Amino acid sequence: MIFTQLIQTNLRTKELGKNIEYYNRLDSTNTEAWELMEEGNQHGTVIVTDNQTTGRGRMKNTWSMIPGKGVAFSLIIENRFPSNYSGLISLASGIAVVESLNKRGIETKLKWPNDVFANEKKLGGILSETKIIKNEIVKVVVGVGINVNETIAEHPKDIRDYMTTMLEISKHPHQRELIIAEVINSIEHLFHDISIDPKILINKWLDNCLHLDKKISFYENEIIVEGIFSGLDRNGFAKIEMNNEIKTFGSINLV
Ligand code: BTN
Repeated sequence: MIFTQLIQTNLRTKELGKNIEYYNRLDSTNTEAWELMEEGNQHGTVIVTDNQTTGRGRMKNTWSMIPGKGVAFSLIIENRFPSNYSGLISLASGIAVVESLNKRGIETKLKWPNDVFANEKKLGGILSETKIIKNEIVKVVVGVGINVNETIAEHPKDIRDYMTTMLEISKHPHQRELIIAEVINSIEHLFHDISIDPKILINKWLDNCLHLDKKISFYENEIIVEGIFSGLDRNGFAKIEMNNEIKTFGSINLV
């Protein structure tokens, strides 16, 4: 059971997390966040569940959560940003998770754009979705999933080789409420950075990148191609060196 009171007592935010909606069971916290917004729930609301049954991931992937052991929550943010800030918003959310997990003694890195890795295995993922009106982002839902107190063996067979959990790394359980509160604290801070100067954020992301200046593979037109990950452009898009030429990509799936 997640105790929302415990999340709230660990928040140091001005705006985010003042209202927390807890559900025993939910298909997807992101889907619920968009529905709650329709009903008038506003900026800063957190949607959290102990059992997410149909978690959604990037590029139509799914997200597996072990009931009562993993973390799955979404945050409603109603700030206005230029429409080309979608990439930066997604990077900021990844940095927030890395910063908070590092504080809990788990050393993590980011695989572009915002997969959270530890010991070369996936520990967490972020699905950030935006609503754009007239070239302006008006609403954002940031959804965070982290594998916390379960073993790898509790997850479906087909993903076990590629993932890890906080329990497997540190050999002790973690208080999920503290992790959630730290991520929210960090997100408020980083979203403020985005509005002041996106460069701060780009540099923070690069400091935490798993594969900067390293060889990476990704799908281009359903074929796996290789390149050197050479940085980010000002929108947070991936700059990849291929055949002595730098190409920029806004949405690819690194293998
Ligand atoms: C990915 O790795 O592709 C992103 C996974 C994001 C999962 C989180 S769990 C909470 C929120 N609700 C969802 O349905 N998805 C995100």
